[in-house]
Amino acid sequence: MSYSVPEHWGSRWGFMLATAGSAVGLGNIWKFPYITGINGGGAFVLIYLGCVMLVGFPIMVAELTLGRAAGVNSLAAFRTLTPARTMLSDLIAGGFFLAGAGLAMFSMFGYALMFFLAGAVMLRFGWSAFGIGCGVVAPLVISSYYAVIGGWTIIYVVKSFAGSIRFTTPEGAAAVMNPIVRASSGYLPWVIGAQALFIFLCGLVLASGVRKGIERWSKVLMPVLFGLLTVLILRGISLPSAAAGLKFFLQPDFSKLSANGVIVAMGHAFFTLSLAMGITLTYGSYLDRNVNIVKSALIVIGLDTLAAMMAGMAIFPAVFAMGFREDAGPDLIYKILPAAFNSIPGGAGGFWNGMFFLMIFIAALTSGISLIEPLISICVGEWKMRRRTAVWTTVFLLMLTGSFVSVSMAGWERMPELGRAAGWLWGAQAPAHLFDMLDSFSCNWLLPLVGLGITIYVGWVWGVSYAVEKMRHGAGGRLDANVFQLLAGLRSNSENTPAVCSPALCWGLLVRWITPLLVLAAFLNGIGVIRF
Ligand code: PHE
Repeated sequence: MSYSVPEHWGSRWGFMLATAGSAVGLGNIWKFPYITGINGGGAFVLIYLGCVMLVGFPIMVAELTLGRAAGVNSLAAFRTLTPARTMLSDLIAGGFFLAGAGLAMFSMFGYALMFFLAGAVMLRFGWSAFGIGCGVVAPLVISSYYAVIGGWTIIYVVKSFAGSIRFTTPEGAAAVMNPIVRASSGYLPWVIGAQALFIFLCGLVLASGVRKGIERWSKVLMPVLFGLLTVLILRGISLPSAAAGLKFFLQPDFSKLSANGVIVAMGHAFFTLSLAMGITLTYGSYLDRNVNIVKSALIVIGLDTLAAMMAGMAIFPAVFAMGFREDAGPDLIYKILPAAFNSIPGGAGGFWNGMFFLMIFIAALTSGISLIEPLISICVGEWKMRRRTAVWTTVFLLMLTGSFVSVSMAGWERMPELGRAAGWLWGAQAPAHLFDMLDSFSCNWLLPLVGLGITIYVGWVWGVSYAVEKMRHGAGGRLDANVFQLLAGLRSNSENTPAVCSPALCWGLLVRWITPLLVLAAFLNGIGVIRF
């Protein structure tokens, strides 16, 4: 039976494309171009690259190593490598309880509740609590709203090719987009249906397994994605407005850089690399010993950054073509960009919109697939379910939660009890609907806390020595060579002179000290305890 065969990647490139498929998603296409444009263009790109190397890269390597060393799902990984509960985990649980009590005194009940919950889970499950956070809670919560956006994309692909996205003004765009985003009564069945279709398509790929499903489809879809991006860039730079668009996107403007921009860059590094969601850990557990983890992580990060830069180069020339204002989030790609494509004279707007949304759909699909895999790996590993049973049970569950989120998009009117509860817990800061609630819970709380937990676990509990020992498999001595020697292209001579400044040493310093401190600072800033 299929469950008895441990899943493994078929090739190194298959693994890297699947991981890059997870990383390249909506974050790269709508968020990165926009935050780059308003935060100082090329100057922000430099800061972002710094955050990726100081925060994203160490955690990605940690998750892959943890996954490969344990060789099991994210829940089991922590207890496989060390005793799940240690004194440090109990101390952290105590810290959560204290923080909860402190916040409750200031009537911040919503926040207090989160800390109490985290403390209770940590006390009961020890380090495996982070496995629950990244392997169960994050995929369940994030896919419930990610699928809704995936569904919008499907609706837009169909509408574009059918020629019914004709608007040329932001007002016209709002008339098309708003009923979809708010899931107004006429559109609700479509929004629910498209969301369910998105999850169903992920399920189809997942049901065929890791190698025959995820890997095979990533090898097809990722080249198509980069191909479409290239075509869209060529379209962009052939427009007269190309220079203005690229200037807005890339010209370094250091005066626009702010401390907040740095925090934004750091948060984005987390989300865009799919870290702390159990994904990278699970993908690592399917990895063979002969793969160089550090090198693979660098390639995936390179592909992810490349996709983000390409998206900006494709989007801004078109947006500037008609003098439209660059705008935030979903508005930029669902309203402004289609309007721009439509108003380029003789520009075959329907076709370009179709291509663009197809590209986004592919990006979202490969991310969606990766988000569900941690759940399946847990069902198979912990509950001994057959893979197919696990996939379709999970898909069914996610369709239900996704429908719930779709219904809530109109605001709390359709679910007043939940709205009242949110109002009581968060007061003036209460989210406007379930989508916002899940989004801010995952990005502001879950991902940073789990990311922090992973660095502390790997750096201090499992230990850098063990981790590096495991990372050496597949790295062929390069982990212990001198970084500068490697950069200069010289062969390592680690037998004679142990290098002082080796990749292993740099990674250890990052994962033990620098990364956790940076993530902690970003977390405290994100929930408003400190302000930069
Ligand atoms: N990394 C994806 C992006 O940049 C986001 C993502 C979120 C992927 C959740 C998987 C799961 O959009």
